[in-house]
Amino acid sequence: MTTIRTICCLGAGYVGGPTMSVIADRCPDIQVHVVDINERRIAAWNDDDLVKLPVYEPGLAEVVGRARGRNLHFSTDVNAAIAMADMVFLSVNTPTKTRGIGAGQASDLRWIELCARQVAEHAQGHTIVVEKSTLPVRTAETVQAILGSNTQGRSFVVLSNPEFLAEGTAIADLEQPDRVLIGGEDAAAREALASVYGRWVPRERILFTNLWSSELSKLTANAYLAQRISSINSIAALCEATGADVNEVARAIGSDSRIGSKFLKSGPGYGGSCFQKDILNLVYLCRHYRLETVARYWESVVEINTWQQERIAQLVVSRLFGTVTGKRLAVLGFAFKANTNDTRETPAIRICQALLEEGARLAIHDPKVDPDTIASDLGCASSDADGGWQFCPEVAAAAAGADALIILTEWDAYASLDWAALAMVMRHPAWLFDARGLADLEAARAAGLKVWRVGLGDPSLVLAA
Ligand code: NAD
Ligand code: UGA
Repeated sequence: MTTIRTICCLGAGYVGGPTMSVIADRCPDIQVHVVDINERRIAAWNDDDLVKLPVYEPGLAEVVGRARGRNLHFSTDVNAAIAMADMVFLSVNTPTKTRGIGAGQASDLRWIELCARQVAEHAQGHTIVVEKSTLPVRTAETVQAILGSNTQGRSFVVLSNPEFLAEGTAIADLEQPDRVLIGGEDAAAREALASVYGRWVPRERILFTNLWSSELSKLTANAYLAQRISSINSIAALCEATGADVNEVARAIGSDSRIGSKFLKSGPGYGGSCFQKDILNLVYLCRHYRLETVARYWESVVEINTWQQERIAQLVVSRLFGTVTGKRLAVLGFAFKANTNDTRETPAIRICQALLEEGARLAIHDPKVDPDTIASDLGCASSDADGGWQFCPEVAAAAAGADALIILTEWDAYASLDWAALAMVMRHPAWLFDARGLADLEAARAAGLKVWRVGLGDPSLVLAA
């Protein structure tokens, strides 16, 4: 078996940074070099102040604090790190292509290809190359072809080892994964990688498959998770129309052990950097293999997600007498989920843009997202004109003079807001639109607010109908 003494990871992003930090923490005898071409990102990973790490994840600062400088190193010297490594992880971005063949659906693999070329040029001796990024099935063939084109006495093995961590729970997911998936045919390489994880992951949770199954399992896992969210959101709309309550329906169906209770929370649609891009990639692959009906099936998951966000923006406008021009609306939460500062594909973008388009004045609050990120996501600088937005560091300041509060991220703090105090500073009739279903609706109603909650129909209306 190959003994792994030095690991290199190309890409110090949301996946590379936390994953390598946990490996270094759990394997003090392995030197782990995380490298990136983005100098600012690497500088932030090296910042003495652990609060300034480029990724916010509960528990991450502690892990980095234990390992950094001992056997965890962040640097921009990509070539040197490759040359030292027995094992190289490719953990770079694989966004959706924006131009050319497959634009809007296929993955842009230019960074993966560049990395493979860099590894081919600088690796020494025998190197195990591990695909950590989420990739279309059969990408390993390309990586292998590039590595094999000019070996000059060196040798390479390619493995697939997709990452299943979710943002906000990355450290817990890495420390206690449901499973670690290793795809590849080379027994020695598989065992070498398994022995790294084996330091803290029980052996029965390390699954081996062929390369293609491993690559495809990652896309499939994300597609299944996203499908559950679109399914419950479609039922939420039906609940609102019929007087049912989606939380009750979710509990009823989730108690069936065949369905299970997780990922049944209705909300403003899924966000995050991966669900949309991975499903679109799956759709593209299906079309590539001439499976049009299968492609359309998965495409509908994305359609429901977009529809849910448009529906929420429209119902806010319609409840506010059909116009929000010049009205102040407080938006609570901009991150795509709680406990992260990540806003990639956050539902808040589409919902806020639709309200800005209607002329609303948005007062946006989020405990972790900074105003520069919001400006770049919304495509406009902050302004106090109609159709403009401002950042408010406090919920009370956002609520002052607002006609509505719209909860878009499930931050804990929004579950225990002081509704009496907020209602006092709002303009009446004032609304609470709870797209995450976490607010204390009774308290909000008692404070004089009108209330809409995702997936909550009004049973009395139905009886009267
Ligand atoms: P990211 O954009 O946060 O990080 C990628 C990093 O790679 C960037 O910092 C970029 O500068 C760097 N990079 C690009 N080319 C490079 C090169 N040639 N050499 C060195 N560094 C280079 O992306 P991410 O969120 O970490 O995602 C990475 C991959 O993991 C994607 O395929 C994604 O689908 C997958 N994934 C992401 C998550 C998640 O929660 N974000 C979870 C599981 C899997
Ligand atoms: C997701 C997967 O959960 C990870 O397993 C995967 O590794 C990752 O994508 C990836 O490949 O990038 P992540 O996007 O970080 O992780 O976060 P999730 O917890 O899955 O949430 C995604 C979105 O779905 C969020 O907007 C969240 O609010 C929403 N969601 C989630 C719901 O609306 N309802 C739910 O019941 C669960």
